[in-house]
Amino acid sequence: MAKKDDNLLDHDYDGIKELDNDLPPWWLWLFYITIGIAIVYMLYYHVFHIGDLQTAEYYKEVDPNWVPPDEQGPKHAGLFYESPYARMKKDVTPRMIKEEMIAEKKEAEQKAREEEAMAKAEGHEGSVTLSDIGFDELIKQAMKKASPGDLKKLQTAFPEIYASYSSEAGSDVGIAAGSTVPEITALTDVASLQAGEAIYQKNCASCHGNAGQGGIGPNMTDDYWIHGAGMSNMMHIIKVGVPAKGMIAWQPVLTEQEILQVASFILTLHGTNPPNPKKPQGEKVDYPL
Ligand code: HEC
Repeated sequence: MAKKDDNLLDHDYDGIKELDNDLPPWWLWLFYITIGIAIVYMLYYHVFHIGDLQTAEYYKEVDPNWVPPDEQGPKHAGLFYESPYARMKKDVTPRMIKEEMIAEKKEAEQKAREEEAMAKAEGHEGSVTLSDIGFDELIKQAMKKASPGDLKKLQTAFPEIYASYSSEAGSDVGIAAGSTVPEITALTDVASLQAGEAIYQKNCASCHGNAGQGGIGPNMTDDYWIHGAGMSNMMHIIKVGVPAKGMIAWQPVLTEQEILQVASFILTLHGTNPPNPKKPQGEKVDYPL
């Protein structure tokens, strides 16, 4: 690069001066070549349509049988975008397929729910109608089948019926809180324990934990018991509950057999050491009982 003084331009910005040199030939040639390529490119793709634009190239790749939308018109398809899926299955986009799948799933779920409700309704129909038995009796039947939440509602709606219902239900308990009662034998067969587990997961796990580790209610797996360990104590406390502490009486909700099953299941949880156990409550009991 020549740095002759006569190339010096006459402006001066804070001591920065400018020379009016010629551009280097390599730079100029690169520039001319790009102009040449641009002209060739324009004629090739846009004037004579010899080459495919990238949209058309893409269509051809996903669908070998693809032909330009308008054979008479320009060969390139770059002026508008059309999803290649739309052509594969007319008027159906992947989004529509997905939505259709979701709708089908929802429909199936709804159907299953309806069928379940129908089966339930039929079951009830088979057992009692209002004309067969008195209104009170019907409500009591409903209380027997109700979930704890529903039972609460029924209790507030029909306090008298609930009172007579729970006293009736309580009358066949026959187990006193004391330990004078002979120890009840736990069920050990697989079917009963599975039934017990199902009852537990449905009614008890929310407070006592899925694995019996405790939560709102005490830990069922450790050596500590507030109301005494063993079947008789458990059966009794499950039946009468500890309403003041948030443990409802399950007598009105579960049958004697179900309480036996769930207590037998809880017995199997002892010593299982589940994660996140609740700290011990009550008194330590020496195991084996
Ligand atoms: C709303 C929460 C809640 C639910 C649901 C619940 N419990 Fe309880 N349960 C408790 C509380 C709280 C205690 C502790 C009572 C106390 O401090 O005296 C307890 C105590 C117990 C005890 C005595 C524990 C001990 O240490 O002596 C047993 C047994 C028991 N529950 C079984 C059950 C069974 C079986 C079910 C399901 C059918 C159930 N619980 C559902 C809250 C609940």
